[in-house]
Amino acid sequence: MNTSSKFINPYPFAILLLTLLFSSLVAAQQAAVASAHPLATDAGLEILQQGGNAFDAAVAVTATLAVVEPYSSGIGGGGFWLLHIKNKNRDVMIDGREVAPLAATRNMYLDKNGEVIPGASINGPLSAGIPGVPAAIDHIATHYGRLPLSRSLDAAIKHAREGFKTNAHYQRMASIREKHLNATPDAAEIFLNDGKAPKPGTLIVQTDLANTLSAIAARGADGFYQGEIATRLVSSVRQHGGIWSKLDLSSYRVVEREPIRGSYKGMQVVSAAPPSSGGVAIMEMLNILSGLDYEKRTSADRKHLMAEAMRRTYRDRAEYLGDTDFVNVPVDRLVSIQHANAVASDISPDQATPSEQLKAVAAAVNKATDTTHFSIIDKDGNRVAATLSINFPFGSCFVAEGTGVLLNDEMDDFSAKPGVPNIYGLIGNHANAIEPGKRMLSSMSPTFVETKDRYAVLGTPGGSRIITMVMLAAMEFYQGGSATSMVDLGRYHHQYLPDKIVYEPGVLNDDDMQILFERGHELEELDDTYGNMQVLVYDKRNNRIDAASDKRRNGSARVIEFTD
Ligand code: DON
Repeated sequence: MNTSSKFINPYPFAILLLTLLFSSLVAAQQAAVASAHPLATDAGLEILQQGGNAFDAAVAVTATLAVVEPYSSGIGGGGFWLLHIKNKNRDVMIDGREVAPLAATRNMYLDKNGEVIPGASINGPLSAGIPGVPAAIDHIATHYGRLPLSRSLDAAIKHAREGFKTNAHYQRMASIREKHLNATPDAAEIFLNDGKAPKPGTLIVQTDLANTLSAIAARGADGFYQGEIATRLVSSVRQHGGIWSKLDLSSYRVVEREPIRGSYKGMQVVSAAPPSSGGVAIMEMLNILSGLDYEKRTSADRKHLMAEAMRRTYRDRAEYLGDTDFVNVPVDRLVSIQHANAVASDISPDQATPSEQLKAVAAAVNKATDTTHFSIIDKDGNRVAATLSINFPFGSCFVAEGTGVLLNDEMDDFSAKPGVPNIYGLIGNHANAIEPGKRMLSSMSPTFVETKDRYAVLGTPGGSRIITMVMLAAMEFYQGGSATSMVDLGRYHHQYLPDKIVYEPGVLNDDDMQILFERGHELEELDDTYGNMQVLVYDKRNNRIDAASDKRRNGSARVIEFTD
């Protein structure tokens, strides 16, 4: 018998085994940060390289963005940080949203005839809610991070003290707000150049802000909400017509909330809970579409159905959503399939439903402005999606004297009067009326989506359009899209009122336009693109991260490798 045919040469197997062993030893773990500014992305990566986790990096990115993107977010503002803690398989939302001052009243922005006073909730310290960012970064560092605040705030303090160079976007944002930045000496001095929006390449030095950040690095949240800085904040705000008190600052609390969860045809969705409307709205839209064979439709049909889902969801947003610590929001009902089916039941496949037929409320104009988002994945699989804001570009344009703290104008996110639109054209009702200590409704939607093979960490600024941008990107992910295709995707939006589909230049093709027009949709092509999305996609099959920062702006998405 010839035994040689049974002989198996061991060498190829040994080589294969060795190769597998070797590649598993050297297989790099990846980590990544995508944010709206290269300096912030670098600060986050540096913290990861120094042994910090995604949560330490989130603190560093938050604080750095507060310095180098002052028109978008800041320690005088608020935000939502969606965390995934890998070893506990737990998701939590850190709610650092601003709250209304204790002296706030329902009609504080109305004149004696009951009309909204133009600009009152947008400019100056009366428009500012009590900031949440300092408390939130302290909370994240203490409960979830590994490094002390002093380390994570290092880069931000350095950029504040030594200055950072402006870009063309800074100049654009500062020109929009030039008049109001000139209204307070500290704001004009820090952010303008001889009263004018500075040219790209100008060095912005923020010594007072560096000192305030150093106080937070040394004393945590108390460095901001108590003591000398708190005294300065309150006295400066009150001197200029604001209503903050020391109690407002000392009683500010971060809240940990259960995120909104749901699924779309097997794709898991985790997103922001109230006081953000984002998660509820995204789930409602996904649920509506899940019954409509969305993926199988033509381009125009998809846009029609999407717009009808958006319209109905924004109607519910206006009607029901607000701070759940103050009002009863039927969250479970709004994110249920039963509700989606009921809402979808009057969607016609070939006819737009006029919004006023759904329910009559005043219409408005929408302006896109600023805010920021970043996404982080660390080498251990912890994740952060965070959307932060001071609301309108440069917030209230008010800098509290001697603190360097630019205050938000988030009070405009409340409904100043039922049915009267805010700056994003959003209307609201009782649920989002002003009350002392209440959080104003937000659209910020930091989100995780996950399928069997991949997950994505995403979000964007964009006022009322945040929700629909995240929705479109989530659908792109579901259909197999990459981080780049998710951010590149052309954007369109419907928000119930005004009753029209707005879209980025060129996003609707001729066919789409004709069909949507024939179905009764009003269409408006915008002058410019909008949003600034930051996406990380992790592929579980090869442990690789795909990262993308919105090409519409100047952010940076970077992946690094760890070989240990
Ligand atoms: O919380 C909100 O919904 C708004 N303050 C966000 C503002 C915003 O995104 C402006 N950005 N482009």
